[in-house]
Amino acid sequence: MPKSKKDKPIVAFNKVSKIYDKYRQEVVALEDIDFSVAKGEFVSIVGRSGTGKSTIIKLMIAEEKPTEGQVGVLGWDLNKIKDRQVPEFRRQLGVVFQDYKLLTRKTVYENVAYAMVVSGQSVVKIRKTVPQVLDLVGLKDKGRRFPKELSGGEQQRTAIARALVHKPNLLVADEMTGELDALYAWEIMEILLKINQMGTTVIIATHDRDIVNKINKRVITLEEGRIIRDQKQGDYLL
Ligand SMILES: Nc1ncnc2c1ncn2[C@@H]1O[C@H](COP(=O)(O)OP(=O)(O)OP(=O)(O)O)[C@@H](O)[C@H]1O
Ligand SMILES: [Mg+2]
Repeated sequence: MPKSKKDKPIVAFNKVSKIYDKYRQEVVALEDIDFSVAKGEFVSIVGRSGTGKSTIIKLMIAEEKPTEGQVGVLGWDLNKIKDRQVPEFRRQLGVVFQDYKLLTRKTVYENVAYAMVVSGQSVVKIRKTVPQVLDLVGLKDKGRRFPKELSGGEQQRTAIARALVHKPNLLVADEMTGELDALYAWEIMEILLKINQMGTTVIIATHDRDIVNKINKRVITLEEGRIIRDQKQGDYLL
């Protein structure tokens, strides 16, 4: 059943493997991945390039299917989810990618509102929610700007605001601070921590060792597609 029960983990990977098959060459991206994330946790998934971080994120948002094992997210069995159910599932989580793809001809306000328009939300609800989420990410006064008039950090925050409009229980982010300088990256992380404090479970995949060490939250470390460490309040040791 798609609805989640309160005592269930928000995310559960059970003996998950992922083998990509490209040009008849098999790539083992993940092997025997076992972990779960409880409601309210903040988890960083770290590891060198090519260790499978993005693949975990893609499995989590139903962009890829596992080759073996089970993936459950927000009460959905992602092994069995049907294509037509994916949009409904995705509306229950917030996703932020590094290439945040803002619409260049729309303002910050319109970029955020658009996510609600396409899912058929009422004008009243949109007018109420958009200023709230812009305020949350510190962009209250920049709603009229176009993406090209924003710094990299501000564009990233717009993408976070957009991911928050459906008030998700889970926010998933892949390498969002990758191209930002240290100061901007920390600003973004503070926003994610704030969102987490408000009750949203947050899972990020990142290279950014300094930030991961600074926030002192759970760290899952990957090496060659396997989890080699899962620490409650971890350091990025690689
Ligand atoms: N669509 C795909 N087809 C074939 N192989 C893929 C595909 N996507 C990823 N891979 C391979 O799977 C492995 C894991 O890739 P993944 O993108 O998950 O790593 P990552 O840890 O996110 O790396 P990075 O830090 O560079 O983003 C790599 O060997 C990669 O080349
Ligand atoms: Mg990646």
